[in-house]
Amino acid sequence: MADDDREQSEGAVSRRAFLKGGAAATGALSATLMPGVAEAQLPLAKDADPRLTTVDLRVNGVAYRKEVPNSRTLVEFIREDLKLTGTKVGCDRAMCGACTVILNGRNVYACSMLAVEVSGGDVTTIEGLGTTDALHPIQQAFIEKSGFQCGFCTSGQIMSTKALLDKMPRPTEDDARLLMSGNLCRCSAYKRILESVMTASRLLQA
Ligand code: FES
Ligand code: FES
Repeated sequence: MADDDREQSEGAVSRRAFLKGGAAATGALSATLMPGVAEAQLPLAKDADPRLTTVDLRVNGVAYRKEVPNSRTLVEFIREDLKLTGTKVGCDRAMCGACTVILNGRNVYACSMLAVEVSGGDVTTIEGLGTTDALHPIQQAFIEKSGFQCGFCTSGQIMSTKALLDKMPRPTEDDARLLMSGNLCRCSAYKRILESVMTASRLLQA
């Protein structure tokens, strides 16, 4: 099976397909802008590297401005440029949820978005929830209910729990199962993760 066919048959948007789409979109944009536009009118400075773009992002309440390669994903920006390594990379293909962060109030897969695409946005990572001395109630709940085994998926599970409870403070177990279904756990700790989500809901109501 050809790679493109395999990507479609998996029923998911792989990062590769996503980036291919981004490249196609960039090409289409260039084709729209270029005819009749004199070189001197182009917005890039003469010596600017067209492969780089300045990105503005607010992360955990701090404003950052960085020039990054156009192909830099949001998770690379967070982990490599900002050194916030609590956000993990599992599949790197928009399938596991390990890279989940909250962008403008929604939980998203940070491996499948380009930093330039979300410039101007507001991001919360696991480092923005609590501190070692003052854990967030969701973090407390995951500890209380042992909602993890190896811990690799845990930051993503907690960020999705935060997005869920911000929108639906009192979910049923079925709601929680459905709304957490984008976060996989290779240790299969789902029962305890669900208990953690429900406990976090109670702690946040207290
Ligand atoms: S690493 Fe992003 S969804 Fe798996
Ligand atoms: S606790 Fe190991 S992957 Fe979820």
